[in-house]
Amino acid sequence: MRSWRFWLLIALSLVLLLTLAVACGEDEEEEGVTPGATESPAGLTGELEIFSWWTTGGEAAGLEALFALYPDKCPGDVEIVNATVAGGAGFNAREVLTTRMLGGDPPGSFQVHMGHELTDTWVTTDNMEPLDSLFDQEGWSDVFPQGVLDIVSYQGKPYSVPVNIHRANVLWYNKTVFEDNNLEPPTTFDEFFEVADALEAAGITPLALGDVEVWTSVHLMETVLLGSLGADAYNGLWTGETDWSGPEVTAALENFSKMLSYVNSDHSSLSWDQANDLVISGDAAMTVMGDWANADYEAKNFTDYGWAPTPGTDGMYDALSDTFGLPKGAPNPDAVTCWLRLVGSKEGQEAFNPLKGSVCARTDCDSSLFNPYLQSAIEDWKSDTIVPSLAHGAAASQGWVTEIVDAATAFVTDKDVAAFQGRLADACVGAEVCS
Ligand code: GAL
Repeated sequence: MRSWRFWLLIALSLVLLLTLAVACGEDEEEEGVTPGATESPAGLTGELEIFSWWTTGGEAAGLEALFALYPDKCPGDVEIVNATVAGGAGFNAREVLTTRMLGGDPPGSFQVHMGHELTDTWVTTDNMEPLDSLFDQEGWSDVFPQGVLDIVSYQGKPYSVPVNIHRANVLWYNKTVFEDNNLEPPTTFDEFFEVADALEAAGITPLALGDVEVWTSVHLMETVLLGSLGADAYNGLWTGETDWSGPEVTAALENFSKMLSYVNSDHSSLSWDQANDLVISGDAAMTVMGDWANADYEAKNFTDYGWAPTPGTDGMYDALSDTFGLPKGAPNPDAVTCWLRLVGSKEGQEAFNPLKGSVCARTDCDSSLFNPYLQSAIEDWKSDTIVPSLAHGAAASQGWVTEIVDAATAFVTDKDVAAFQGRLADACVGAEVCS
C-alpha cells in the first residue's frame, strides 16, 4: 500500500505538468504567425501552391531543391503544387497573379521582387500578412543585412522573406572567342565599342540580345544608365534628383542606342536564355544579363564563360532579390509559414542559390558551396555600392516600370533618342516622382 503522501505528490506533479503545458500552448499561440502554427510543425497536410516564373534550367533546379527540402523542414503530408508561369522577369506571371489576387484567389505564396514591386503593389494595398513574429522566431534580424531588412519592410514590419540576391549588371562573354580574337573584356563604353567593332569585323555578333519580352532591353538600358551616370545619379533617377531631360541622360541613351546596333538581327524573336545560347555556341561574344545567366550556363554544362561588370559599373552592384510572403486569405497558411521558414533558412538558401546563380540573402552561408563566379559575387556584394534594379522591381513602382517598358519597346525599333528621353521624363512625372 502506498502512503497518502505518495498519492498527494503524484497529484501535485500532475497539476504542475498540466499548468506548464497550458502555459506553453498559450506562448506558442501568442508568438505564432498564424493560429495553430506550432514550433514543430508536425502533421502539416493539404496543398501548398507556390507561384513563380522559374521555368528555365537553373531557375527550375533551384526551386526543385527547395521543394525537396520541404518534407524535412515541414513534416507531415503536404502536396506542393508548382504553379509557374513561364517568361523571364515575371512579366507574364505578374499579370496572372494580379488577376488571381484581385479575384480573391491568392496562391499559398508567390515570388515577388523586394522593393517597390512588393511594397507598392501588394503591401500598401493591404494584400499581405506582416511577418514580424516569424522574423523574431527565426532570428532573421541578425542574419539578413539591415539594408535588405529595410527593403522588405513597411512601417517597421517585414512582409516577405528574401531567398537570394541577384546582380543585374554582368557582362558575360565567351572566353575562347575573346582569346581567339586577342580581346579583353571591355570596362568602359569606348572599350566596348572598340571590342564590338573588332568582333563584327571577324564576323561574330558582338552582343547577344533576346528581347522577345522587352524587359531584356530595359535590363540592358538600366546597366547603361548606371554605367554612364554613376551610382549617385542613377539612384537620383528614382527619387527625382536626377533630371531625366538632362544632357547626362541623353548621353546615356546614346550609348544605349549604339550598343543596340551591335546585337543579333533575330533579337526580337529570342528569349534571354536563347540569347545566352548564342554566347554558348560562339555565334555571339557577349551578353548583358543578370547572374541567373550563370545558372543557365551551369545547367547547360557550358564552362567556357567569363564575366565582368558591365561597362562603367566596376564597384557597383545593381541588385534585386526574389522573395516570398504570405498573402492575406492564402489557403493553408501553416504550410505556407513553414515554406517561408525554409526559404529563409541557411539550409534552404545554401541548397537554392548555387543552382539558381544567386548569392544568399543571409550573411552566414558557406561560400565554399558556390562556384567561382558566385564566390566573386559574394565578395562584391560585401564591398560594392549597391543600387536597385529597375527591370526587376526594386527601383520603381510597377506602373512606372510599365511606362518605361512601353517607351523602350518603341525605342528599340525607332532609335529616336529625343522621343525616348521625352517619354522617360514624362513617365517620371506620371509616377509622381518628378514634377
Ligand atoms: C528575374 C528574377 C530572377 C530570374 C530572372 C529571369 O526577375 O528575379 O530570379 O528568374 O528574372 O527570369
